[in-house]
Amino acid sequence: MLRDTYDRPVKDLRISVTDRCNFRCTYCMPLDEYEWLEKSEVLSFEEITRLAGLFVQIGVEKIRLTGGEPLARRDLHKLVAKLSALDPTPDLCLTTNGSFLAEKVAALKEAGLRRINVSIDSLKPDRFRQITKRGDLEKVLEGLFAAKNHGLQPIKINAVIERGVNDDEILDLVAFSREHGFAIRFIEYMDVGNANEWQSEKMVSKKEILEIINAQFPLRKVGREKGSAPAVDYQFLDGSGDIGVIASVTEPFCGTCTRARITADGRFVTCLFSNQGYNLKKLMRSGASDAELLEVISAIWLKRKDRYSEERLAALLSPTGYDPKEHRKIEMISLGG
Ligand SMILES: C[S@@+](CC[C@H](N)C(=O)[O-])C[C@H]1O[C@@H](n2cnc3c(N)ncnc32)[C@H](O)[C@@H]1O
Ligand code: SF4
Repeated sequence: MLRDTYDRPVKDLRISVTDRCNFRCTYCMPLDEYEWLEKSEVLSFEEITRLAGLFVQIGVEKIRLTGGEPLARRDLHKLVAKLSALDPTPDLCLTTNGSFLAEKVAALKEAGLRRINVSIDSLKPDRFRQITKRGDLEKVLEGLFAAKNHGLQPIKINAVIERGVNDDEILDLVAFSREHGFAIRFIEYMDVGNANEWQSEKMVSKKEILEIINAQFPLRKVGREKGSAPAVDYQFLDGSGDIGVIASVTEPFCGTCTRARITADGRFVTCLFSNQGYNLKKLMRSGASDAELLEVISAIWLKRKDRYSEERLAALLSPTGYDPKEHRKIEMISLGG
């Protein structure tokens, strides 16, 4: 099996199917004006499927479609159908802001999608609008329950917690998820991309999040799914569901990171915090064979030595501290969350 310099295999592939988004979440892409990719620069479904097929050959078991807003891409269900037909079949997931889900979930399910993550940071309509700048909570909840009615399973809610923004809603989000049978994943606010003006003071740590939940809903630690998932999972002691926390800032998990990424314009990126990627689209469009593509992908993975979150934590704890502005990164909308 292909392993990088720290002995990490490649098991997960995150594909940003578009950099465009109908929301402008303050923690992700708050800019109204942005230089979006030209349509011709974005990978076609055929190109995505070809690359996904090669990654599956070298060990990828799980593929997540993300963005930008993946459901802003027309006919996404057609891509889901193509990826579901790969051999061996990958475990296919979708991360979405949920705003187009109600009308698209039937086709997605029909095409083979089984599991989904919907991002919801607040259950208060006004606050939801403030965080996403353009989002309508009612529409997102409609999509969430449509996914439930169509039998998608598991349905996970992703919530980014920011101090002074929505940290007072942690228990409400837990109660809502328990009541309706959703699994919730709390995410520490990270310094992804360059546009979100990240400040460490706004990050609510995993420890704080767990203390708040445990006081009301006692928990038992389960651990990371398959040992390498970003979230550490916990079960409620009363048996009614589970939660997870993704603590990239305070408890980095670079040591077990098996994730590769393809940007919307076809660059192969080996870390969420990378500032560059290898242009596979150019190679594909210049006529490279599968064997040539595989050789390039394998060579990049073998040399991989990313451990950005561990380095960030060391810097945060050092006397000089950590300045996100010193580290230019690819925006999260391009390389997929
Ligand atoms: C970039 S989004 C793309 C998919 C889709 N548009 C959505 O919002 O679910 C994927 C995930 O990244 C999370 N995310 C974005 N910016 C983040 C940040 N600064 N810190 C932590 N998570 C972030 C979002 O909350 C979302 O759950
Ligand atoms: S988190 Fe998702 S919905 Fe929000 S701006 Fe980023 S890509 Fe769009």
